[in-house]
Amino acid sequence: MEYQTLLVDISDKVAKLTINRPHKKNAINPQLVLDMVQALDDLRYNDEVAVLIVTGAGDAFCAGMDLKEYFHDLKGKNPAEYDRINRMLIDWRGRLMRHYPKPTIAMVNGYCFGGAFPLVECCDLAIAAEEAEFGLSEINFGMFPGGAVSKTLANLFRPRDALFYGLTGRRFNGIKAAEIGFVNYAVPRARLESETMALAREIAGKDPIALRATKDAYRMSLEMSWEAAMSYTAAKENEVLLLQKGGWLEDGVGDFVKGLYKPGLAGHETLKK
Ligand code: COA
Repeated sequence: MEYQTLLVDISDKVAKLTINRPHKKNAINPQLVLDMVQALDDLRYNDEVAVLIVTGAGDAFCAGMDLKEYFHDLKGKNPAEYDRINRMLIDWRGRLMRHYPKPTIAMVNGYCFGGAFPLVECCDLAIAAEEAEFGLSEINFGMFPGGAVSKTLANLFRPRDALFYGLTGRRFNGIKAAEIGFVNYAVPRARLESETMALAREIAGKDPIALRATKDAYRMSLEMSWEAAMSYTAAKENEVLLLQKGGWLEDGVGDFVKGLYKPGLAGHETLKK
C-alpha cells in the first residue's frame, strides 16, 4: 500500500492513516483526495484492520483545502477536473468515511482549519491534542465555510459557537474543541498517540459486526422518522444475528442468562474478534 500523500501503518488491527504533506501543513490537494479514496478502498477489505485512525504528519493535522492546488490552480481554470475531484472529495468525507464499515478516529495533532473540519466530523470519534489549533479561517480570506464545512457546523456545533467562530475566524485549542463537543476529549500532545491507540485497540477488541451495526443504526436513525428508525433497527437486529451466526443472542445474551459473565462490566470473550 503506497500512496503519494499518505502513510499507512497497521498494527494490532488498527490502521493509522497519516496525511503526509507536512511541508504544506497537510492541506488537502487533489492527489490526497485520490489517495484517501484508494486507501479507504484497500483497507475496507483488509481483515487485519478493524479500526482506522486519521492524523497528520508533523505539527499540523490538516490546514484545510490546499488553497493553491485546489482553488487557485483548478477552480475556474479547469472546471471539469475541479468537478471530478470535488465530487470525490464530497464522496470521501460525506459517504465513504461517514458510512465506513469500520470505526474511525480523527487524531487531531495540530493545525485544523476550514476544510479539515469535515474530516474531523466524518470520523466517528475525535481526540485532539490540547495544543491543537482549530479555526474557520475562511472569513479571513473573504469566503464563508463552504462545501461540507457549513454542514459540519450544523451537525456538530452549538449554534452560537458555529456563528461565533465562522464570523470571527478566531482560533480555539483542543481543550475548547472538547468543551464544545467537536472532539470527544483532549489530551496533552505528548500523550495523544498512546491514548488514541489505546482507544482504537479497545474498540478493535469488540465484535466487528456489532461495531458496524452500531454505526449504521446511529447514522441512519439521524436521518429517519421514528417509525422508519424502529423498522430499520428491527431488521438490523436480525441481520446482525444472521451475520454472527447466532452470536449476540446465543453467546452474548445466552451466557448472561446462564450467569457466566456481566456485559455491563466487560465484553463477551467469544464475541471478541
Ligand atoms: N493551502 C495551501 N498551502 C498551504 C496551506 C493551505 N491551506 N496551509 C499552509 N500551506 C503552505 C504554505 O503556503 C507554506 O508553503 P511554502 O513553504 O511553499 O510557502 C507551507 O504550507 C507552510 O506554511 P506556513 O504558512 O509557512 O506555516 P506557518 O506555521 O507559518 O502557518 C498556517 C501555518 C496553517 C497558519 C498558515 O499556513 C495558514 O494560514 N494556512 C492557510 C489556512 C487556511 O486558511 N485553511 C483553510 C483552507 S479551506
